[in-house]
Amino acid sequence: MLEIGNNIMSQKIFLASDHGGLNLKAAILSHLEQAGLLCEDLGPYTSESVDYPDFASKLAYALHEDTNARGILICGSGIGISIAANRHSWIRAALVHDETSARLCRQHNDANVLALGERLTGELTALKCVDVFLNTNFDGGRHEGRVAKLSNRVT
Ligand code: RB5
Repeated sequence: MLEIGNNIMSQKIFLASDHGGLNLKAAILSHLEQAGLLCEDLGPYTSESVDYPDFASKLAYALHEDTNARGILICGSGIGISIAANRHSWIRAALVHDETSARLCRQHNDANVLALGERLTGELTALKCVDVFLNTNFDGGRHEGRVAKLSNRVT
C-alpha cells in the first residue's frame, strides 16, 4: 500500500500508455486510486494497437496545463514512450527499472514523468517505482541549473 506524503495528495496523476502498457497501467491506476490519489487515465482504453507518440503527447499537453501534476507513461519497453515524451521541452521523463533510479530521477533530475516498460519490469517492482517516484522530492541546490538547462531548445 502506498504511503502518502502530504505533498502528493494535492497533485493530480495523469497516466497513459500504448497497447503494450495497458495491463500495467490498469494495475498502477488501481494502486493509486486505492491510496486515494486523484488520477486521470488518458488512454488507451482497449487493447487495440496504437502509436505510443500519440499518448505520450496527450500526457505531455495535460502536464502543460497542470504544471503541478505528475505523469506515468507505460509502453512495452518504456523506451519509445519516454523518447516521445521528452520531445516536449517541459517534460522530464525518466525510464526506470528499479527503486534507486526512481528515487534519483526525482532527487537529481526533478523528473515530472515516470516511464515504465510492462514487458521488462514486473508489476511489484513497477508499483514500488511508482511509490518512490511520487514520494521523493527534488533536492534542488546544485541540480537546479542543470535541470533548467534541460528545457533549452537544441536545433
Ligand atoms: C509495441 O509493440 C512496442 O513497440 C512499444 O510498446 C514499445 O515497446 C516501444 O518502444
